[in-house]
Amino acid sequence: MSCLAVADGEGRNGVWLVEQGLKVLSVDNSAVAASKADTLAQQKGVKLDFEVADLLNWEWGENRYDAVVAIFIQFATPEQRTQLFENMKKCLKPGGLLLLQGYTPRQLDYGTGGPPVAENMYTEAMLRKSFCRYGNSASC
Ligand SMILES: C[S@@+](CC[C@H](N)C(=O)[O-])C[C@H]1O[C@@H](n2cnc3c(N)ncnc32)[C@H](O)[C@@H]1O
Repeated sequence: MSCLAVADGEGRNGVWLVEQGLKVLSVDNSAVAASKADTLAQQKGVKLDFEVADLLNWEWGENRYDAVVAIFIQFATPEQRTQLFENMKKCLKPGGLLLLQGYTPRQLDYGTGGPPVAENMYTEAMLRKSFCRYGNSASC
């Protein structure tokens, strides 16, 4: 199974996904992070593919991955997020799995990390609107 690890940083998720048996492409715009991810993959004895690229200007392709994993990619402004989400949907194969993890705006009250910008956070309504095929249906 092929997997895209979106803005994978130092590779903790990408490496874990390879360990689960997936063929993973780890993309991040930081060469330093990619180098650390490479070191981690070597330490773990797994093969992680890398691309250092700006995901806001990247050729994502269509129907390309069985899974897309995007953990804490809330660097994206609302406009950038719309672009990223559309590309994430487009590059997934039909029936593929999208795994997205991020903070809600409540994270700002905790002050324990994440971008200090409420509009970059996720709400359930926003995710339903972005990913539900049938609009605001309760079935999605
Ligand atoms: C909070 S870190 C999360 C890293 C990783 N997903 C994790 O959970 O460990 C956000 C990552 O987004 C990357 N990033 C920020 N803007 C990016 C862009 N335009 N294109 C690609 N990666 C980007 C940063 O380099 C950083 O590694």
